[in-house]
Amino acid sequence: MATVSLKKLVKRYGTVEVVHGIDLDVKDREFVALVGPSGCGKSTTLRMIAGLEDISDGALEIGGKVVNDLPPRARNISMVFQSYALYPHMTVRENMGFSLKIAKRPQKEIEERVAAAANILELTPLLERRPSQLSGGQRQRVAMGRAIVRQPEVFLFDEPLSNLDAKLRTQMRTEIKKLHAKVQSTIIYVTHDQVEAMTLSDRIVIMRDGYIEQVGTPDEVFRFPATRFVAGFIGSPPMNLDEATVDDGKLVFASGDSLPLPAQFREHVTAGQKVVFGLRPDDFYPTGHGLSSSEAANIHQIDLPVSITEPLGNETLVTVEFNKREWMSRMLNPRPLAMGEKVAMSLDLSQAHLFSAETGRTLRD
Ligand SMILES: Nc1ncnc2c1ncn2[C@@H]1O[C@H](COP(=O)(O)OP(=O)(O)O)[C@@H](O)[C@H]1O
Ligand SMILES: [Mg+2]
Repeated sequence: MATVSLKKLVKRYGTVEVVHGIDLDVKDREFVALVGPSGCGKSTTLRMIAGLEDISDGALEIGGKVVNDLPPRARNISMVFQSYALYPHMTVRENMGFSLKIAKRPQKEIEERVAAAANILELTPLLERRPSQLSGGQRQRVAMGRAIVRQPEVFLFDEPLSNLDAKLRTQMRTEIKKLHAKVQSTIIYVTHDQVEAMTLSDRIVIMRDGYIEQVGTPDEVFRFPATRFVAGFIGSPPMNLDEATVDDGKLVFASGDSLPLPAQFREHVTAGQKVVFGLRPDDFYPTGHGLSSSEAANIHQIDLPVSITEPLGNETLVTVEFNKREWMSRMLNPRPLAMGEKVAMSLDLSQAHLFSAETGRTLRD
C-alpha cells in the first residue's frame, strides 16, 4: 500500500523557513498534483518526500511507516525531473536498465523489466538508439522508462514536461495519464501549470508561499475556490476579481459602479463589509452568446463598452470595461463587435464568488 502522508512537514534552510508545516494525505494509487507559482515550495516538498532534502520538522510516512530517516533508495520511490540527463553514450536499453545494473540485479531480470517498461511506453522499436537519435518527447519517455523499471510504489514527477514545446507537452500529458492507468502507482506530480494539474490529477494541491491553500478535485477547486488566490490561479482565462463594498443588497465598486449582491451570499455578509467579487469569463457574456443554464432571475443585465476582442474561432474573448477596469468575458457563437461598442452583457450571479477582502477566504460558509 503506497499511501504518502505529510504530517506538519517543515523545511528550513538555515533560519529561513520555506515550507511551513503542511499536512497532506495521498491515497494508494492516487494521482495528486502540487501546483503553484514559482518559489512556493513544490520542489522542496517533493524532494523531502524523495529523501533528497532533510526534513526539518514533522513526519513523512510512506505506506504507513515513518521514513524521515530512510535514504532515497530505501523508500521505494522513483523520481522524474525536468532535466532528465540521459547518458549520451548509452542506448535507450542501457539507459533504462542502468539503475538495475548498479543495484546488481540479475541480467535476465533487467532484460525483462526493461522490455516491460519499453512496452508500456511504446519504446520497443527505439531500444538500440542513442539519446541523440531521439526526439524531445522520446527522450522524456526514456526518462520515464528509467523510473518505471525500478517498479516503485510511488512516482514523483518534478515539472517533467517544462522543457517540451506546447504541442509535445499536450501529447506527453496524455501519455502520463495512460501510464498512470497502466502502472497503477501512486503519483505525486509537481507543476506550475494549472492546466496540466487539472487535466492529469485526481486531486490538486494548490500551494502558495510554503503553505497549502486548498486541496480538492479539479472540479472542486474550479467551482468552489477556498481563497481569492485559488480563484485567480485556477481557470483560463482567469476569473475576474475586483474589490467592492456591501451596501443595502448591492456591491458597490470604487468607481461607483454597482451590481446586485448575489443571493447565495446574502446571509454571509454584513453592510459595509469589504469583499472581493469574482466572476469567471464563462459566466459573463454578451447576451444570447453564453453557456449558462441558470434561471433568468439569476442573470443580471448591463450595457458595457467593448475594449478589445480576441477571436478564437468557435468563441471570442471579449474584454469590456466595468468599474474602470478590464473584465474578460467569453462569447460563444461569436458575432463581430466593434471596439467601443456598447454591448448588452449578461452576468450569471448564481456562479459569482465573494471573498473577504481582509483574509482572502471565501464567504460561502
Ligand atoms: N538549497 C536552498 N537553499 C536556500 N533556499 C532554497 C533552496 N532551495 C530552495 N530554496 C528556496 O525555497 C523556496 C521554495 O523553492 P522551491 O521548492 O524550489 O519552489 P518551487 O519548486 O515551487 O518553484 C524558494 O524561496 C527558494 O528560493
Ligand atoms: Mg520547482
